[in-house]
Amino acid sequence: MATVALVGTQWGDEGKGKVIDILAAKADMVVRAQGGNNAGHTVVNGGVTYKLRLVPSGILYKGCDCIIAGGVVIDPKALLTELSDIASKGVRTEKLHIDERAHIILPYHLSLDALSEKARGGKDIGTTGRGIGPCYTDKAERSGIRMYDFIRPEIFKAKLFDRVATKNKIITSVYGGQALDAQAIYDEYKTYADELKKYVCDTSVLIYEAITSGKSVLLEGAQGTLLDLGCGTYPYVTSSYPISGGFCIGAGIGPTAINECIGIAKAYTTRVGKGPFPTELDDEIGETIRKVGAEFGTVTGRPRRCGWLDCVILRFAVRVNGLTSIALNKLDTLSGLKELKVCVAYKTDKKLTEHFPADIDELAHCQPVYETLPGFTEDISGVRKFEDLPVNAKKYVEFIEKQIGCRISMIGVGPDRNQCIYR
Ligand code: GDP
Ligand code: IMO
Ligand code: MG
Repeated sequence: MATVALVGTQWGDEGKGKVIDILAAKADMVVRAQGGNNAGHTVVNGGVTYKLRLVPSGILYKGCDCIIAGGVVIDPKALLTELSDIASKGVRTEKLHIDERAHIILPYHLSLDALSEKARGGKDIGTTGRGIGPCYTDKAERSGIRMYDFIRPEIFKAKLFDRVATKNKIITSVYGGQALDAQAIYDEYKTYADELKKYVCDTSVLIYEAITSGKSVLLEGAQGTLLDLGCGTYPYVTSSYPISGGFCIGAGIGPTAINECIGIAKAYTTRVGKGPFPTELDDEIGETIRKVGAEFGTVTGRPRRCGWLDCVILRFAVRVNGLTSIALNKLDTLSGLKELKVCVAYKTDKKLTEHFPADIDELAHCQPVYETLPGFTEDISGVRKFEDLPVNAKKYVEFIEKQIGCRISMIGVGPDRNQCIYR
């Protein structure tokens, strides 16, 4: 295993955490490079469930270096809570490293996330409310506070007071919200900085040294291709770049450093938050998938919208991420459905297309074109070999591969790290 990137192919929650945890058994380093605690990655090991938000999913392995790289936005309070949660389950965290370039989510980002969502009225994005968008806005606007500043009290204080003065004008005058107290924020957040200081360094050097010395490095994607700020269903997206190219910017590595790119997909489609979703099921089948698949958000607990698998989306993900293979999770959830529909193209007023459209209004008018395959009823959660799957489950997997032109190398049949079929 060399440097392998793992990305979400749909709207997030594809089971990235589980696959990273499986592959991390043989990895020297796992790197998170974008997003923040809007992510919720579930790892199940021997009946114990870990919900990871900012901490890379390699943390359960003692020998694995875990990096939160410069492209991540960090809520220090949330990170410390997460660290103490996993430490209480016996997980050691001394191999965690946090980059100096990472931007800090501060209380005004949380206020602005909530206020701007409210101001959008019925056109709200349905964000996770974790301050992600406002923090990346400051990064792009060049007024962010980075980890380097945060752990230096004098610099942090000066920058914080300056930013709070400006943000308070926006919070009160534009949104009619409550002004924040810079001194109170400083007093509270200085203690977080003191606690996090020991993890902070230039992680781009660690990553470079690991790659050039032939170690195996896993790049852990958060969110998914359709939530990408550039390629996703704009404006119903997150504010970072979850596609594979985002790793170069977020981890500070060159594109030639990535040897493989695995796309993580669910055997059906889900979405939390708003925006068009062509194969969404507003019926009993959608309800069954939600119930059987326990499709409720890891971060916010919101019910996930569920629908049939969409090969237009997966084809798009293969293309924009340069996928070399796919891990298909939750095939077990589909057991018991009489028929399995798969979207193979979209129909619009004018044409039939196999390509995912750039615009959400166009997407909202797309009718999915389905092929219907026979379902399977067997419990497959104990199956470990592809040959042992029911014939209709095998046909489903092979049909998808043909449609999207990409090999499916792993199949998830349950949440635990051993519930996986390798091909
Ligand atoms: P992530 O954000 O991509 O890491 O995914 P989440 O953890 O938010 O959501 C995936 C959910 O599916 C979690 O509850 C996982 O434990 C669960 N899961 C992952 N793979 C499988 C699988 O193959 N079968 C089943 N039944 N559950 C799975
Ligand atoms: P993981 O890594 C699913 C969605 C939110 C919302 C939109 C913008 O667990 O797959 P944000 O708070 O980022 O500004 O919200 O993006 N979203 C996710 N959906 N999984 C995630 O992460 C998500 N992270 C953000 O629901 O629609
Ligand atoms: Mg998730």
